[in-house]
Amino acid sequence: MSARTETQPILEVKDITVTFGGLKAVDRASLSLYDNELLGFIGPNGAGKTTLMRAIIGMITPVSGHIILAGQDISRCRIVERINLGMALAQQIIKPLKDMTLLDNVALAAGGDKLLSPVKAILNRSRQQQQEVANSLLREVGLAHSVHKYPTELPLGYLKRLEVARALARQPKVLLLDEPLAGLSKTEAEGMANLIMSLPRKGRSVILIEHNLAQVRRICKTLYVQHNGCHLAFGETEDVLANRDVQLAYLGKSE
Ligand SMILES: Nc1ncnc2c1ncn2[C@@H]1O[C@H](COP(=O)(O)OP(=O)(O)O)[C@@H](O)[C@H]1O
Ligand SMILES: [Mg+2]
Repeated sequence: MSARTETQPILEVKDITVTFGGLKAVDRASLSLYDNELLGFIGPNGAGKTTLMRAIIGMITPVSGHIILAGQDISRCRIVERINLGMALAQQIIKPLKDMTLLDNVALAAGGDKLLSPVKAILNRSRQQQQEVANSLLREVGLAHSVHKYPTELPLGYLKRLEVARALARQPKVLLLDEPLAGLSKTEAEGMANLIMSLPRKGRSVILIEHNLAQVRRICKTLYVQHNGCHLAFGETEDVLANRDVQLAYLGKSE
């Protein structure tokens, strides 16, 4: 059964508008994401994709609209609360802690609860448990061989995987990925896309912003397209890519 046939989305974005001075970076964006789904989010540079992601996780306050997570309106929640409720964002510019091994980078994120919520602090995992979680996440993202290495020793392709592991450490219901393939070689990008394709499961969905259309087309069944801040198309990948407005706005322009 397709995730889209389920009734209740895990995430609903309703009429979100974000302005910067006079510029409407996002103009009444609406989309829904279902459990166990991988949704591709495309659009030309400057379309407002990153801005919408930041509004979803609470880094930016929209002038209007609502964000609903698992049926709960979180529009007024701070970013920390949204993370605690099950959202994570892997940003385009990755910022690993350079003086820590990959294991410690992920273990810190796994134990991050104590920084966020006093209630969770009581239930906080022990350091050993954090390391076990970190080990298993690094295995999941294909970095089992580098757990004791430092970020500065590793190529960008590995660091992008580390960023995903750090985001997964929060056990997100909704994982937001902003251009995780950017800057990667063709082979690295294909490997990373395979990893992203393996991420959705019951209790975990993914929104993928990405310019690499070949990989997006290969791994995403559903696409959302934004252009000049506005919703342009939303639906099954091949239908969306065949849409003339999308072709004119997006495919007609070289990236
Ligand atoms: N913090 C900001 N302050 C002012 N303008 C911004 C800011 N962030 C983004 N913008 C502008 O908003 C528009 C959308 O940007 P962005 O969300 O980064 O697009 P995309 O991720 O689709 O390339 C662009 O015109 C950009 O210059
Ligand atoms: Mg962007």
